[in-house]
Amino acid sequence: MTANADPGSAVDALVEHGWVSLPHWLPDECVSQLRQLSEANWRAGRLRHAGVGRGAGFRVLPEVRGDRVLWLDDATADAATADFLASMEGLRLAFNRALYLGLDYFEAHLTMYPPGARYRPHLDHFRNSHHRVVSSVLYLNAGDWACADGGQLRLYLGSQPRGEHVDILPCGGTMVLFLSQRFWHEVLPAGRDRWSITGWFCRRPTAQI
Ligand code: OGA
Ligand code: MN
Repeated sequence: MTANADPGSAVDALVEHGWVSLPHWLPDECVSQLRQLSEANWRAGRLRHAGVGRGAGFRVLPEVRGDRVLWLDDATADAATADFLASMEGLRLAFNRALYLGLDYFEAHLTMYPPGARYRPHLDHFRNSHHRVVSSVLYLNAGDWACADGGQLRLYLGSQPRGEHVDILPCGGTMVLFLSQRFWHEVLPAGRDRWSITGWFCRRPTAQI
């Protein structure tokens, strides 16, 4: 395990603010391996248009959401992916120990926003389904990312998708965590390829009585 990921500061910030941005979550070497893995999957045509809604309500609407994704599973597991997943498992356990969040599992996909792609304001849960508790994004971009490159993650701090917000640049190695059901957020149109791993710590739905 090569990560310098420290769950402690993430737990503290999540309690205090409900969100946190952590630069250098994983070593540069690991981030660049994850980017290479993503690029190889992209070249192999494995990333698919993401959509909105699910089941019969699933739609691909590039004007709302223009990213391409590939779910991470054991088939895509290599050393860097294993390090990433181990760092997220450390977070899951820390959140459960300190905050009693009862997180059962973590799901994630490789994500690419081609130039011009965006994701309009949304909350990270489907209607009538609240199993996503904490959202995570690890950015995989190489080199500097300037404001002029666009593609910021805009996190709205109030209860509506307008007004006070923070803009986070998708710099390689930065990990962003936030409470999935509390924060409206959007991805502004990116001016260059924007790579990341987007994930969610989830609770298993409880049986309906
Ligand atoms: C998402 C999302 C944010 C980002 O995929 O649901 O909001 O910065 N991503 O990529
Ligand atoms: Mn989201």
